[in-house]
Order: sequence, then C-alpha cells, then structure tokens
Amino acid sequence: MPGLVIVGAQWGDEGKGKVTDLLAERAQMIVRFQGGNNAGHTIIRDGETFKFHLIPSGILYPDKLCVIGNGVVLDPRVLLGELDELRRRRVDVSGLRISANAHLIMPYHVMLDTAGEAKLGKLSIGTTRRGIGPCYADKAARLGIRVQDLLDEKILRKKIMAALEPKRLSLRPHEKDPSLDLHTMTEEYTAYGHRLEPYIADTAHLCWEALDAGQTVILEGAQGTLLDLDHGTYPFVTSSNPVAGAASVGAGVGPGDIGEVWGVAKAYATRVGAGPFPTELTDETGRLMLERGHEFGTTTGRERRCGWLDLVALRYAVRLNGMTSLAITKLDVLAGIDPLRVAVRYRSSEGAALAEFPYHQSILHGASAEYEELPGFSAEIGDCRSEADLPPQAREYLAFVSEFAGVPIRLVGVGPDREQVVWMGDRPALRAA
Ligand code: IMP
Repeated sequence: MPGLVIVGAQWGDEGKGKVTDLLAERAQMIVRFQGGNNAGHTIIRDGETFKFHLIPSGILYPDKLCVIGNGVVLDPRVLLGELDELRRRRVDVSGLRISANAHLIMPYHVMLDTAGEAKLGKLSIGTTRRGIGPCYADKAARLGIRVQDLLDEKILRKKIMAALEPKRLSLRPHEKDPSLDLHTMTEEYTAYGHRLEPYIADTAHLCWEALDAGQTVILEGAQGTLLDLDHGTYPFVTSSNPVAGAASVGAGVGPGDIGEVWGVAKAYATRVGAGPFPTELTDETGRLMLERGHEFGTTTGRERRCGWLDLVALRYAVRLNGMTSLAITKLDVLAGIDPLRVAVRYRSSEGAALAEFPYHQSILHGASAEYEELPGFSAEIGDCRSEADLPPQAREYLAFVSEFAGVPIRLVGVGPDREQVVWMGDRPALRAA
C-alpha cells in the first residue's frame, strides 16, 4: 500500500481532518500538499477540541512524521502559534517536518489580499484574506521567498527587497506600516527561521524513504475539488490545486507512488465565499443544516452557505480525482429532514438538461439544479457503529449516492466525535504502524 491521497470532493470543509485522523492511525507519514492557513480542520479527541490551520492532522500521534510539503504556502507566525499551542497542551511536536521549498506568506501578501478584495467590491471572491493568492502569484512570478531563505539573513534581506519593490505601488496606503519596513521584516523572519530550523528538511526525500520502505504515506489536501484553480468554479476558487493530481507536485512523489484516492464529501453541501452553488438553499432547510451542522468557518468564522448534496458535481469530482473511495461526513445532520433531495442534473438558463458539470462559467452561473427525492430518516444516528445500525432510509440514501457517483462509500460520519463513524464493508487494511 503506497501513497494514499485524501481530497475534498466539494467546496472544502468536508471534514477531511477527521477522515485523515482516522486513516492516519495506520499510516507512518502524513503530508499536507497544498494551500495554507486558509484551511482549518477541527479534530475532537477524548472530548478535547484541536483546531489546526497548517499542521497536518496526524500531529496528535506521537510516532508519526507530519510534513508540510513544498506545495504549501506557509505563514510562519501562524505556524509558530499553532506549535506553541500544541506544546502548551503537551502534544509532542517533534514529528513535524517542513519542506525547505515551501513558500512563505509575507506581511505584504496579506495586505495585497485584503486590498485586492476591497478593489473588486461587489465582485470580490470572498477570500480568507490570509495572503494565499498573492503568495502563490509571487511563487509563479519567481519572486517568492521560501522556507530555506529563512536560514540565511543576507539572502533573505535581498529577496525581500526584490519582492517588495513591485508591491510598493499597490500598497501605497500602507506605506508607513512598520511591518512593511525591510529591516523590521528581515529581523522578524530571521527570528522565525531560528525557531523553525529544527523542523526544516528535504521532505520529498523523507517521502521516498517511507515509500521505499513500504510504509503508508497519507497525502492530505486542503480546500476541495470545486475550489481548484484549474478545475473549480474559476475565478471563485483558491490559488492552488486541491485535486489529487497535485499531491505528486506538492509532496514531491511520482503519480505511480499513489495507490488510493479517498474523497470526502458532506451528506449535503456547503460553500464559503462567493461563487456559483446550484443546490444552495436559502430557506429553513438551509438554516437547519447551518445550525445542526455548526456550519461556521474554522478560519474566518463566516456562516457557510448550505444546500442539498450535488451529485452532478460529486460525480465530476470522483472522475477528476480518480477517486477509489468516498467518505460521507455529517449524515446525522440530515436526520428529521423529509424528503431528502439530491441534485441529479442541471437545467441551463436556456432550458437544456445538463448531465455533466458544465465547463463554461456562464452556463454554470445560469444553471439550476434538478432533484431526485429520497425518503428521509427521523431517528438520531449518532450511536450507529455499523451499516446495519443505520435506518433503512439512510442506507438507501448512501446507496443512491454511491451508485450515482460511481465509487464505493467506505466511511460515514454520524457525529462530531472521532468514534462516531460507520465503516462500510471491510475497514481498509493499511499496513500496521
Ligand atoms: P483564498 O484561498 O483565501 O484565496 O480564498 C478563495 C476562496 O476559497 C474563497 O471563496 C474562500 O472562502 C475559499 N476557501 C479557501 N480555503 C477554504 C477552506 O479551507 N474551506 C472552504 N473554503 C475555503
């Protein structure tokens, strides 16, 4: 069993952290391969809640390597904050490794993100304002500053100077901000470098060693397929590629090293920020999903938009990611909603039936969803631990989803706690740690 990729199958916030945490039990290494602290995952362990933005979910296991891969954009201030908090709670963080090639989020990236959104006004994307887009833009423009640059003050200063120059114009309103001063910034980031140095490594090499030794490596994506820069609902997307194909690039392993792709989808759908969402509900059912599902962003606290499960989009995500297994989370949130609806096709504004996720932005923006109705279940399912425990209507719902999407459902979340899951069929036989 070589690399196993875990990706979001919707617009992010699918509960990947919990799935990763469960699968990580039997893996030796967990690697984050893209995104930054725009992501947030919550893990509940023995009644304790842990929220992470950058650190891979596997950190709660003392015996595993947890890697921040080269594809991640890293805000060192945020990472150090997370490390301090984990240490305070007596979590051993010695298994953390940070790719020397990961790009750094600088103060001007955060300012540019905010300024860019303000400039767009009504057309804004609704970014998390964490500097993600501007940082990836600098990476592509070859103006980026990488983790390895933190280890040499002279190089760091030169690179900051070169990167700052083209930003001056756009950042004119912030000109006097001390955090934009070359000297202050160099000092601040050099200090971060001193603290992070013990964790900085050639992480691709570490992945190869683990894979060559026959160990299981989990490659953990952030955000979700429909927020993918190339394949999502552009321009209402993030600036990286959350799809499985990007795991190779963002961790430094070959496609042949990947044996399984797990997708994670909620039993309904949510989206934060602007952009098309054909199954969105603005009625009481949507409100119920929001409240029962505690649909508030881990990173920004924003209310998430809620809607029915979109099987047109899910089938697209299954094919695009080469998904081999699906985990459905938060099925418990649907208890008491009757009937349940799932989108099985779209209708274009011109009246055409669309069986496939439209590639053209204008068509998607004008599309409305058409539904199949399925019977709901009224019983609370939080105590179900096997497929047979689930009400027949819940099983029917899952069977319909799996059949339509064309992928087996292997895991179902029935509540927020780690134990509140139902493994469908055999539990995956990952190599024992
Ligand atoms: P950015 O990634 O901060 O640039 O934001 C771009 C879009 O992606 C916005 O609509 C955000 O709300 C969305 N987004 C970014 N990260 C996440 C996430 O982890 N979960 C859900 N949405 C996200």
